[in-house]
Amino acid sequence: MERSLNEPYRKTGNLSNGDSIEQESKGLGKLLVSGYEHVMAFYLVTGGAGFIGSNLVEELVKRGEQVRVLDNFSTGRRENIAPWKNDIEIVEGTIVDPETCARCMEGVDFVLHQGAMPSVPKSVEFPVESNEANVIGTLNVLLAARDAKVKRVVYAASSSAYGDTPTLPKIETMPPNPMSPYAVQKYTGEMYMRVFHQVYGLETVALRYFNIFGPRQDPTSQYSAVIPKFICAILDGKQPTIFGDGTQSRDFTYIDNVVEANIAACHASSECAGKLLNMACGDRIDLNKLVQVINEALGTNLDPKYDPTRVGDVKHSQADISAAKKYIGYEPKVLFPEGIMKTIDWYKSNASQFAK
Ligand code: UD1
Repeated sequence: MERSLNEPYRKTGNLSNGDSIEQESKGLGKLLVSGYEHVMAFYLVTGGAGFIGSNLVEELVKRGEQVRVLDNFSTGRRENIAPWKNDIEIVEGTIVDPETCARCMEGVDFVLHQGAMPSVPKSVEFPVESNEANVIGTLNVLLAARDAKVKRVVYAASSSAYGDTPTLPKIETMPPNPMSPYAVQKYTGEMYMRVFHQVYGLETVALRYFNIFGPRQDPTSQYSAVIPKFICAILDGKQPTIFGDGTQSRDFTYIDNVVEANIAACHASSECAGKLLNMACGDRIDLNKLVQVINEALGTNLDPKYDPTRVGDVKHSQADISAAKKYIGYEPKVLFPEGIMKTIDWYKSNASQFAK
């Protein structure tokens, strides 16, 4: 059953600390949880059927929050949100349409704006289409959020905005240097976040994601991210393909950290409004090592193949995460070694769901 937008309801859920909670009617029920008042809220997750969006939905539902998903199911998958489809509202539509954005804001407290056309190489191939989703779509979400007077918008920004600045770790005060249409678009979204705070007083937080990975990331497209591609190739007995010499490195960040940061960014004090915060673990590993770690975990020994470096590819990426610590109390809880094992375990049991 998919609920209509305004229907009141009552539900129960569990916080991550194990406390059970109960929510009555739409939005803002006030509940006593272990002696403190937990104010329930209503979240709109754009791109909620995607990899990051669906992980956000899962945690919000677990906490008993009210959730609406807006997704056009272009890269998002119905399977990703199927377990919670009776607990959430699902709106099939696009952020490129201002009216859909306006309709989806009704009653919403917080917007987690994950909807986008991801991938650096895809944006190189489709600069106009990716601009529509990533820039026009973001502007539409902001305008609708401003008009609906939502409390805060949290935006999925991208570390690609830094480009190839040689200094590591990358810190938010560095001048951006986008190297692909995707990076330009995601950076533009950040600027819009800041300007909407300055000009219209809308509270926004931009989280600059650094190569997020974990369960439900689609390995099947030519534009898929490297970790699910490598895990699934090796599980399938195939050699993974490295673009370049494999010495390029990334601050690979497990999804649970990002989910917690998004929720923290909604509830932290207004000091974080208008801010740009790196979202990462503050470490990096290179692709040759990544292949080795996956081989070791799976008891395989498949050497990578090497293809030419991808256009628009950044060489090294590693974040300074002190601003996120300062403004939203962020602390990465699942570091790469644990995250990659959890992810490999998930694909061992679930890789078949991506079979075409
Ligand atoms: C970039 C952004 C990231 C953003 C993502 C969205 C940077 C540093 N990161 O990720 O914040 O979320 O876009 O799509 O800009 N590779 C292979 N073989 C493959 C696939 C990829 O060798 O089969 C290589 C790529 O060339 C790259 C690295 O693996 O060097 C990571 O690629 P990918 O997972 O696609 O992410 P980024 O482009 O780094």
